[in-house]
Amino acid sequence: MKVLLLGSGGREHALAWKIAQSPRVEKLYIAPGNAGTGAVGENVPLKATDFDALKAFALQNEVQMVVVGPEDPLVKGIYDSFKQDDRTRHIAVIGPTAAGAQLEGSKEFAKAFMMRHGIPTARYKSITAERLQEGFDFLATLKAPYVLKADGLCAGKGVLILPDLQEAQRELKEMLGGMFGQASATVVIEEFLSGIECSVFVLTDGCHYKVLPVAKDYKRIGEGDKGLNTGGMGSVTPVPFADECFMEKVRTRIIEPTVNGLQQEGILYKGFIFLGLINVGGEPMVIEYNVRMGDPETESVMLRIKSDLVELLEGVDAGNLDCYQLEEDPRTAACVMLVSGGYPEAYEKGKVMKGFDKAAATDSILFHAGTVEKEGEIVTNGGRVIAVCSYGETKEEALAKSYRVAEMIDFDKKYFRRDIGFDL
Ligand code: AMP
Ligand code: GLY
Repeated sequence: MKVLLLGSGGREHALAWKIAQSPRVEKLYIAPGNAGTGAVGENVPLKATDFDALKAFALQNEVQMVVVGPEDPLVKGIYDSFKQDDRTRHIAVIGPTAAGAQLEGSKEFAKAFMMRHGIPTARYKSITAERLQEGFDFLATLKAPYVLKADGLCAGKGVLILPDLQEAQRELKEMLGGMFGQASATVVIEEFLSGIECSVFVLTDGCHYKVLPVAKDYKRIGEGDKGLNTGGMGSVTPVPFADECFMEKVRTRIIEPTVNGLQQEGILYKGFIFLGLINVGGEPMVIEYNVRMGDPETESVMLRIKSDLVELLEGVDAGNLDCYQLEEDPRTAACVMLVSGGYPEAYEKGKVMKGFDKAAATDSILFHAGTVEKEGEIVTNGGRVIAVCSYGETKEEALAKSYRVAEMIDFDKKYFRRDIGFDL
């Protein structure tokens, strides 16, 4: 089968690496991809949101499956666009309809959905500019810190956590006044939950589901989870506190009501559901839904899937996912992200990268994020540059291997966190 994968980050290189291993795949295209995906498939210079160009390419190249990496095309309705077009209707699209993608595209929708289906999440109120006073009043009923979330997509920047009430009220007003443009015309005010977070990935055909290996990511730039939020500085799987007892609660209280709720509401969903969970004294609660895999969780999660991912995705499309087995690798996998100095604020691009040959002689796996090939050399092309991933019998062993290889890859102003997994 010919597969087209959309996206260009470390998540997509990890997905491409796994998809390319499938004997079911005869050709893998990645649009637009990066220097890493080019080594496991063929990069195609198309934007993941240019549906007309993607459809034309898919038809011309007899693509039978489109796997969508990032949320943007999903929220914009790529599934619907392919399925409403007689020419592309037969192509499997892995990802939800635009209606399903609202779980990530609208925080207000996600919260109301959880309320309708009794899914445990923080208490909240959704506010627009004309109801500012109601927002102030609700904030006053909560305890510090205060959580404000822009309703729409903000490239991971739409959540503010504020230490005092006056500041929270001021920021609420700013958000409603257009701090994030139209995305913050509605703001969800939420009760702050205290606990440790994890990422649970579910693959569903709209009726049946499989739970992929659970991971934890590290979002802050600094060690000890200090400093600015980033796209993610590393990840570890499995997560010891996500034990059988915790996961049973996750399945019965969260996953099943989510999959059944979507079905009851007539929302077609064939793809990944990412549950951002928090463990509040042993009870799982939902912080957020995403409608795609996480980055950099995917980079470690893919290492722990032994089954053929493409077969599972075929089950998603056919609606018989229950007929397939998901086999996990029992080892630990850890990912350490190498980033450009200065990230997540201003940083330079175009730094020549060295040490790939040395890294290739180890058993760690490198997934490219912000890289590009230029005149035969690989140069940096983003904030997050390379995810160094390794297996280990323990978390310590997997991390030690990744850190050793992190030292081998060399580029000007390289930075990485040396404490991934510290809280597990
Ligand atoms: P999000 O952009 O929705 O992933 O939120 C960013 C981060 O804010 C989450 O990963 C959490 O660490 C934190 N967060 C969001 N909502 C809450 C909440 N209700 N209580 C505590 N922390 C939260
Ligand atoms: N690692 C968090 C995310 O992908 O949103």
